[in-house]
This record gives sequence, C-alpha cells and structure tokens, in this order.
Amino acid sequence: KKKLSSTLEKTIAMIKPDAVSKVGHIMDMIFSDGFHMSKAIMAQLSRTDAQRFYAVHQQKPFFNELVDFITSGKVVAMELIGNDAVKHWRTLAGPTDSAVARSEAPNSVRARFGTDKQTNAVHGGDSPENAAKELNIFFGPQPQKNTAKLLDCTCC
Ligand code: TYD
Repeated sequence: KKKLSSTLEKTIAMIKPDAVSKVGHIMDMIFSDGFHMSKAIMAQLSRTDAQRFYAVHQQKPFFNELVDFITSGKVVAMELIGNDAVKHWRTLAGPTDSAVARSEAPNSVRARFGTDKQTNAVHGGDSPENAAKELNIFFGPQPQKNTAKLLDCTCC
C-alpha cells in the first residue's frame, strides 16, 4: 500500500565507541536534519546488554567481534523523534560500510566519521519495533547494572 503521508516516529540513534569523540558534530547533523532529541545517555554496554542489543545478529559470523567492538568503550544512545524517523535516521547514517558510504552518500554520518563495515560510527534502529526494544536497553525501567549509568569523563 502506498504511503500517502509521513508518520511521526521514534527511533534510536547510537554513536559507537569509534565516533564518541565526534558527538558534537554528529548531534549537529541530527539537529540540522530536523530531528527532535528526546533522550540521550552516555554509557558503556555490558557484554550481556550488547548481546541483547545485537540479538538479531546472533547467528552471524561477525557477532562476537561486533560485541567486542560495541563494548570496547562508551557509546551515546539517543531517542530521536521526527517524521519517518526510522528511515530518515538510517538515510542520514548512510550505508553500513563506511567505504561505500563515502562513494554513495558522502554527506552521511558514516561517510564522514566511519572507517569500514564494522567500525561505522553509528547505529540506527531498522524498524519502530526494534528501535523500541533497543531504546529499552538504555532507557527502560530496569537497565542492566553497567549500562544506563552516567560515566565520568576520562580526561579530567
Ligand atoms: P546490519 O544490520 O547489516 O547494518 P546496519 O548497521 O546498517 O543496520 O549490521 C549491523 C552491524 O553489524 C553493522 O552496523 C556493523 C556490523 N557488521 C559487521 O561487523 N560486519 C559485517 O560484515 C556486517 C554486514 C555488519
């Protein structure tokens, strides 16, 4: 069925450990593109939460490496609201592989700040349902011990 109007949606955007130092630039891109940011947290995922976060990829050959990477440092998780926010944020994020992003979507976040197909700066929920599950890991009523806690900066 053809969609005639856009719908107000919620999604999750997550800055991965490789791009946390670029949080300001990435938030600028998010706001410039018209999103509303309703929640944000800097946290370090526990292994258990990282496995829950990437549960859909459990059977993939890159699963363990992906969990290693996402737990290697702090991430910044954000709840974004906007028209067609799920698709809109995935478009602004760019193709999974940052090298592809650089040729096909040079203004995307991954083109600017990602490295390759694993170290790719940001995550975006792929459906409203998955976004809600992923948001719950950071902002739900019973976050795991290590996840939804504010961290002190390491530089001062
Ligand atoms: P995927 O859902 O295919 O991409 P996207 O993040 O664009 O929705 O994959 C999820 C994450 O898994 C991806 O951001 C990085 C990681 N990944 C790898 O480490 N190796 C790979 O070969 C692929 C396809 C993904």
